[in-house]
Amino acid sequence: MRICSILENQNIEKRIAVTPEIAKKYISLGFEVLLSENYGVHLGITDAEYKNVGSKILKDEKKILNEADVIVQLGLLSNENISLLKQDQTLIGILNPYDNKSDLDKLVQNKVNAFSLELLPRITRAQSMDILSSQANLAGYKAVIESFANFEKAIPMMMTAAGTVPAAKVLVVGAGVAGLQAIATAKRMGAIVFATDVRMASKEQVESLGGKFLTVEGEENLETEGGYAKEASEDFKKKQEDLLSETLKKIDIVICTALIPGKKAPIIIKENMINNMQRGSVIYDLAAVQGGNTAFTEVDKVVEKFGVKIMGETNILNKLPVSASSLYAKNVFNFVSNLLDKENNKININLEDEIIEKTLIK
Ligand code: NAI
Repeated sequence: MRICSILENQNIEKRIAVTPEIAKKYISLGFEVLLSENYGVHLGITDAEYKNVGSKILKDEKKILNEADVIVQLGLLSNENISLLKQDQTLIGILNPYDNKSDLDKLVQNKVNAFSLELLPRITRAQSMDILSSQANLAGYKAVIESFANFEKAIPMMMTAAGTVPAAKVLVVGAGVAGLQAIATAKRMGAIVFATDVRMASKEQVESLGGKFLTVEGEENLETEGGYAKEASEDFKKKQEDLLSETLKKIDIVICTALIPGKKAPIIIKENMINNMQRGSVIYDLAAVQGGNTAFTEVDKVVEKFGVKIMGETNILNKLPVSASSLYAKNVFNFVSNLLDKENNKININLEDEIIEKTLIK
């Protein structure tokens, strides 16, 4: 069994799916590991480090894809490379099935086993494979760092002989994995933190991190069985708007993370709310790629509106690709390990396993 990975398009993706530590683990499982030349050089990992643990490095990526049993990537392969894949090969990555339907249909027609890891069920057994959590956690942390770097005042309260600097006030919109890490990071840096969510379960989690939960009055619990958010009713949205409009007048930094799986992100921070914020405030919108949680978010731009900076990027994880790759590679290894029939040394597409069934593109 050969497990392979080729270079991503580094203009859009700096993370890698196999680190030397994980290559070694695949080899212990009985795999042969085959990677593109200079696979990790942009992250300071030389080809020699991969070779030292027993991996093979090849220049010819078409040959790599041709020889692979399992291909592990971040994003979907290029069109040209997709057409090279053949029956019984297995492709694993963040394949973005909502946007890449026609490419994925092609793989299904060619009987390639394509697994998209963002479809993993949020069950205990899948936690070690949960790329959404590992990556969102880092994104939440980095969003705080980026917004604080763009804020022109200090974050913690400082009492000095020259006077007192007040602590910055942070609002986190959406207290899922990214939001909870944003709360923890902002608290550690000395900010006063508020948070809101449509799922009532998040109230306790926010409070356990020292954040103040803003409850929308008469809130219905908008949580699906899978633990995700449902789309809010018009009545809820109006109440949320009233609550946030008042709160935002005294907030310095907003971290937006609100998402509804498979849908455009809800616009929560509207024009009039931004107009009422203090000049010099910063909004970091982690939902930017899904359309953004503010009325003005533009991907990869810092938009300045009424003196408020609004920022959001295509892939914030490209700003900490070493940590992100380390966790991603471990998640993928755990997924492959579950997929492998170790006795017969082959990939076993056991559709009775919820993890396999939910992630397989059909
Ligand atoms: P996500 O990335 O889909 O959404 C982020 C957050 O935005 C969620 O908390 C969501 O409720 C919130 N949101 C959506 N619309 C909103 C609105 N209009 N206003 C305010 N907030 C809004 O969610 P994420 O971070 O992936 O987590 C979703 C759930 O999965 C959580 O319940 C989490 O605890 C659970 N989870 C379970 C795991 C497990 O293995 N059991 C692992 C990781 C997460």
